[in-house]
Amino acid sequence: MKPLTFSILRLLSDNEFHSGEIIARAMGVSRASISIALNDVNETGLTLQKVHGRGYRLLGPVQWLERDTVLKHLGGEANRFNLEMLDIIDSTSSYLLQRAARGSGAGSEHIHVVAAELQTSGRGRRGRRWYSGLGDGLAFSLLWRFQHGASLLAGLSLVIGLAIIRTLESAGVEGAVLKWPNDVLYNMCKLAGILIELHGDMLGPTMAVIGVGLNLKLSNVTHARIDQGVTDVYSISGETPDRNRFLAALLMSLTSALRDFEREGFSLFKQEWLAHHCCENKVVRLGFPDGSSLEGVIHGVADDGSLLLRTFAGVQRFNSGEITLYKME
Ligand code: BTN
Repeated sequence: MKPLTFSILRLLSDNEFHSGEIIARAMGVSRASISIALNDVNETGLTLQKVHGRGYRLLGPVQWLERDTVLKHLGGEANRFNLEMLDIIDSTSSYLLQRAARGSGAGSEHIHVVAAELQTSGRGRRGRRWYSGLGDGLAFSLLWRFQHGASLLAGLSLVIGLAIIRTLESAGVEGAVLKWPNDVLYNMCKLAGILIELHGDMLGPTMAVIGVGLNLKLSNVTHARIDQGVTDVYSISGETPDRNRFLAALLMSLTSALRDFEREGFSLFKQEWLAHHCCENKVVRLGFPDGSSLEGVIHGVADDGSLLLRTFAGVQRFNSGEITLYKME
C-alpha cells in the first residue's frame, strides 16, 4: 500500500460514498491511479465497497492513530517522548533497531517510540510472524537505554507484560493473565505480544527495543491469518477501544514500569506478576530453542524473573524457553 492509499482511506473514513472522480480531483491524480491504489484494501481487514455510479465507501469506522491526540492524552509527560507515527512499515521494531544502530536518539533525553498503522512483516518471538490489520490493534516499539548489562535484565519482559496488564485493568478490561515470560492472555487466547531485543555488553550499557502488539478489535481477515487462539479487547469488554487513548496509556504505564525496574529490579514486581500468573502449579513442558524439552510443575518465578520449574531433579531455574500447558484450562 502506498501513501496515496492512506490519503484516500482517510478521506473515505466518513462512511459516505465518494466518486472516483472527486477523489481523483482531491488527490490530484487520475481515476485509474485511485482504482489501483485501492486494489488491495480489503486484504488489510477494512471493507471497501465500490458501487457503480456512486463510487467508493468504507464500511465501518476506522479510528486512525493521531500523533497530536496521543500527545494530548500524554499530558505533562508528552515532552518526554519522541513519537513517530508511520502509516506502513515492515516492522516497527526492525525500523527502530535500524534507527538506533545508526545512533539516532543516542544522548537524547527523549524516549523514541514508533507506532504504525500497518506492519507488512510484523515479527513475533522465535521467528514467528505477528499479524494485525489496519486499525484493529496497536503495533509499536519503544527504545530504552539501560545502564545495566543484559545479564541483569532477565525480568524485563515480565515487567513489560505486567505494565500491559496494568493498562488494561485501568481501562476496565479485567481478567487478562500472564504466561511466562511475557504472553498476555485472556481465556488462554493471545491478547498481546511482546518482543524484546537487547543490544549491548553483558556488563552494560544495554539498548532494548521493546515491541508491543495489542489486539483491540480484530477484523475477520486478521483472525483468519492467525493460527493460534487469539482474542481482543473488544471481545472482553464489549466496547470499541480508543486506539489513541490506549497507546498513550500504554506508554505511560510502560515508562513508569521501566523506571521502577531500572531502579529496583524485578523483585519489586514479583508479587504483582505472580498474582496475574496463569500457570502456577500447572504441569507443563518447557521447550528450548535446540528442540529439546523438559517436563515439570511451575513453581513461580525467582527474584530476577527466571522461571522456577519443579522437575525430577528438584526446582530448576530457566531464563528462556517456551511453555506448553498439558491441559489448557
Ligand atoms: C510475540 O508474542 O510473539 C511477540 C509479538 C510482538 C509484536 C510486536 S508488534 C510491534 C513490534 N514490531 C514487530 O515487528 N513486532 C512487535
